[in-house]
Amino acid sequence: MSDEGIKLTEQYHIPVLLHEAIAALNIKEDGVYVDCTFGGGGHSKEILKHLGANGKLIVFDQDEDAKKNVPKDNRVLFVPQNFRYLQRFLRLHKYTKVDGILADLGVSSHQFDTAERGFSTRFDAALDMRMDSKQTTTAAIVLNSYNEQQLHKMFEKYGEVTNSKTLAKTIVEQRLIKPFSTINTFKQSISAVVKGNPNKYLAQVFQALRIEVNEEIKVLEEMLEQTLLVLKENARVAIITFHSLEDRIVKNFFKTGTIDEVEVDDVYGTKQENPLLVITKKPIIASMHEQKINNRSRSAKLRIAEKK
Ligand SMILES: C[S@@+](CC[C@H](N)C(=O)[O-])C[C@H]1O[C@@H](n2cnc3c(N)ncnc32)[C@H](O)[C@@H]1O
Repeated sequence: MSDEGIKLTEQYHIPVLLHEAIAALNIKEDGVYVDCTFGGGGHSKEILKHLGANGKLIVFDQDEDAKKNVPKDNRVLFVPQNFRYLQRFLRLHKYTKVDGILADLGVSSHQFDTAERGFSTRFDAALDMRMDSKQTTTAAIVLNSYNEQQLHKMFEKYGEVTNSKTLAKTIVEQRLIKPFSTINTFKQSISAVVKGNPNKYLAQVFQALRIEVNEEIKVLEEMLEQTLLVLKENARVAIITFHSLEDRIVKNFFKTGTIDEVEVDDVYGTKQENPLLVITKKPIIASMHEQKINNRSRSAKLRIAEKK
């Protein structure tokens, strides 16, 4: 990648826990690795440094904006798809097993800072929030079509909004006057029920909407389950999360090898052995230095597991 490419990439997104995540993968020179969340390519660029000429890096991103960051490097294969289809696209490209998988969840700074994508409370734009612009469900659709109970549960579960019931009721009342279409009109319509620090409150509301629009929990669970099918023996999976709900899912999955809360017994009632070995009993968090220079890293948690 040229120097100019590197500069562009750094503006697009500053990778969090970069060295920790790369070390987690135990990269082999001629191995096949997957970066499920390519974004600005910060993590991918570092993986490439550890790969030899015969190594391979398969990168997924459902946002077509990410494509411009893909380096001209014949070791890289860009898959412009949701990582929920991990196994399908690996198979399509004739890879049945891989040596390591990385996912750095959520949205990139580029997505967050691009007003018209509708992710940020800082700008006025359409209520969009889709990472994949080909998808039909937008934040406006969620706000205008979900019933009160669905909205209540969404804000409670995905945003931990303290008065999610009142918020849902207000949204249902306000949309009868005029359906929501823009961020500012939405913010004005709910201003009477904002509790505590308005910035924090709105950030929680927007986080919940974003998770719902992009089905972030469901796709994470689907991807995690597929890691068991595509990882080679002793190969590693490293996941960086940014909120407690995601972290809990990753932690439980690594601990049990299943998405279900309870461990599955086989037909004889004996516990199925966990196909994963947990490498991080506690999540790795960013150093004080990283937290100081990159605000976003403050909530990042890295967990690592190895396929037995
Ligand atoms: C936090 S950024 C990753 C940044 C990247 N590690 C870097 O160093 O630049 C997350 C990226 O993953 C993409 N993404 C999030 N969820 C995805 C999914 N389910 N499938 C494919 N891409 C996804 C987003 O579009 C975004 O570009």
